[in-house]
Amino acid sequence: MRVNLSSLAFWELPEEEQEQAFALLRREAPIAEMPPIEDDLAAIPQVNPTGYRAIVRYDDIKRISRDPQRFSSADGVVLGDVAPELLEATLSFIAMDAPRHTKLRGLVSSAFTPRQVARIEEGIRQAAKEIVADAAPTGGGDFVTLIAKRLPLQTISDMIGVPDADRERIVAAADTIVSVGDEEFLGGREPMAALGEAIFTLSQFASEMAAHREEHPSDDLMTALVQAEIDGERLTHAEISAWFVLLSVAGNDTTRHTTSHAMRALTLHPDQREYIREDPDARLPAAVEEFVRWATPVMHFRRTVREPVELHGETLRPGEKVVMFYLSGNRDDSAIEDPYRFDVTRDPNYHLGFGGGGPHYCLGASLARTQLRSVFGEILAQIPDIEVGEPNPLLGSFIRGVKRMDCSWRPRH
Ligand code: HEM
Repeated sequence: MRVNLSSLAFWELPEEEQEQAFALLRREAPIAEMPPIEDDLAAIPQVNPTGYRAIVRYDDIKRISRDPQRFSSADGVVLGDVAPELLEATLSFIAMDAPRHTKLRGLVSSAFTPRQVARIEEGIRQAAKEIVADAAPTGGGDFVTLIAKRLPLQTISDMIGVPDADRERIVAAADTIVSVGDEEFLGGREPMAALGEAIFTLSQFASEMAAHREEHPSDDLMTALVQAEIDGERLTHAEISAWFVLLSVAGNDTTRHTTSHAMRALTLHPDQREYIREDPDARLPAAVEEFVRWATPVMHFRRTVREPVELHGETLRPGEKVVMFYLSGNRDDSAIEDPYRFDVTRDPNYHLGFGGGGPHYCLGASLARTQLRSVFGEILAQIPDIEVGEPNPLLGSFIRGVKRMDCSWRPRH
């Protein structure tokens, strides 16, 4: 079997076949060379596309994530090679190395520490309660719209300071950025045109908001950012916009898709749902780790080799790209026992869903955990008989997303 992770055909395969291909690579070709990403998978024009090494084993992903000296983020962090302007406009500090990365991440990182997230936890729980209470009388519909999408949107918008009236269009634009590979999502638009429009919407909004906060400071992350200085200089509006795009994308899609995948797993495993429901406060924290491992909504990130590195008897050369497939690492039985079993009691659960550690480890991990505990706590309390159908998957190699998923329960008033 020849595996080509750069082809659209691979990502269109049924999940079981993708899993088998990753298992084969883990066993026989742990740093296989892959060709450049094909045009129909990339969706948008590529600039000097080159091949890459597919990193599929758990231990290798951890090693690369924790060695930013040899494995840089500055040349891009996804499979494809897009124009540098596009990288700059959308990726902010996720596509930077130290010292700039450390400084830009540092400006907002205090808002995301476990202690700080604990301070806003009550608000997140309350929001989750209202979201599920709003949905309860309907008896069902599309799970993504009714429930999964709403809490992340509300939480990150509150933190940044996005006004209520603008939230839906901001999240729609953020969705477009990671969904340009899916035709249904484009609704007839050209991928590049849709992407340009989305970036324009987000950048213009962020610039206007930044200008407003410069005049009218408030208690939110946008204010913190416009007031911050790095090496004695304020951030430019272009830098603030890129930061805004990164947080809007990272803070919305990931938790949403984890919620949908986890709900599907709990529908297929009613015994595990019942187990959590018997003591949610004690059992949800471990369950949430399994939700993230099982879902792995971010399927890959990439690095570029800076110094020669020996790996599995080969030398990785400077300039070569390495793409870490978290999805594969999270199913690697050399690190995770019986990895194809969904098991909410797994403890400890050292998965790679939030990355393999190191300086780029997910900034929002504590926030996401809190959101997931809150939303599932409420689902299990208010609509415990919920069942969901087959997920309608987002097509692409980056986000393991669910576009729609039917759900139903006995309506409650
Ligand atoms: C279940 C939900 C989530 C998952 C699975 C997830 C996954 C990831 C992964 C895999 C990375 C890259 C790690 C690396 O390169 O080592 C990452 C980075 C990041 N995540 Fe998350 N994420 C989630 C939720 C969030 C939320 C709610 C936010 C809120 C703002 C967020 C913000 C970020 C940011 C800003 C980065 C870049 C960090 C850096 O480069 O220093 N994430 N996330």
